[in-house]
Amino acid sequence: MKIFIDTANIDRIKEINDWGILDGVTTNPSLIAKEGKDLRTIVTEISKIVDGPISAEVMSMDAEGMVKEGLELSKIHPNINIKLPMCIESLKATKILSSKGIKVNMTLIFSAQQALLAAKAGASFVSPFVGRLDDIGIDGTQLLTEISTIFNNYGIQTEIIAASIRNPIHVSMAALAGCDIATIPYDVLKQMISHPKTTEGIEKFIADYNKSKGN
Ligand code: G3P
Repeated sequence: MKIFIDTANIDRIKEINDWGILDGVTTNPSLIAKEGKDLRTIVTEISKIVDGPISAEVMSMDAEGMVKEGLELSKIHPNINIKLPMCIESLKATKILSSKGIKVNMTLIFSAQQALLAAKAGASFVSPFVGRLDDIGIDGTQLLTEISTIFNNYGIQTEIIAASIRNPIHVSMAALAGCDIATIPYDVLKQMISHPKTTEGIEKFIADYNKSKGN
C-alpha cells in the first residue's frame, strides 16, 4: 500500500519525505487555509519536494469552473491531480478532465455507490472518508472493504485512497481491505513508528552492550 501524507505543511512534508516512505501528498481547502499561503504556492513547493501524486482541490461548484480550475492547476506539475468533491457537476468535470489525461481524485466519498459512479466517470482515485464516518457512528473501515471488493469484482483500475485517517488502526484496516493508498496525517505517521516493546528492546540492547564494554 502506498503512503501519502495528508497535510499542506511544507516542513512536515519535508520531514516525512526524509523518512524515505512517502509516495504522495493530499491537501484540501481546510489544510491549505491553516498554512496562510495560497494553493498554487503550496502545491508548487510540494512538487519540488515529493516525487509522486499531489492532490489539489478546486473550489468551483459547476463542471465548467471545475474544469477551468483543474486545467490551470494541472499546469503546475505533471504530478498534480485534481481533487473534486463528489456531486453531479464533479462527475461531469471528471469525464472531461480524465479525457484530457488529467487525473482526478474524487473526494468526500461516503458510500460504495458514490465510489462506483466516480470510477465510471473516469476518476483515477476515490477518497473514502473513514474517520468522518466513525464520527457519526458508522464503521468507516467497512466502507473501504466494500469499495475494494466492488473494484476487484469488476477489475476497476481506480485507486482507493483511504482518507480521514485518525489512528494507526485505520491504516492497518485500509491495508487489510486492499486499499491502494492511505493518506495519513503527520501525527498518525509518528504514532505508527512507536511501540513500547521496541523502545524497551532498544534500551535493553544499549544497556547490555554498554555492560559488556564495561561502561
Ligand atoms: O483530506 C481529506 C481527509 O483526509 C480529511 O480528514 O480528518 O478532516 O476528516 P479529516
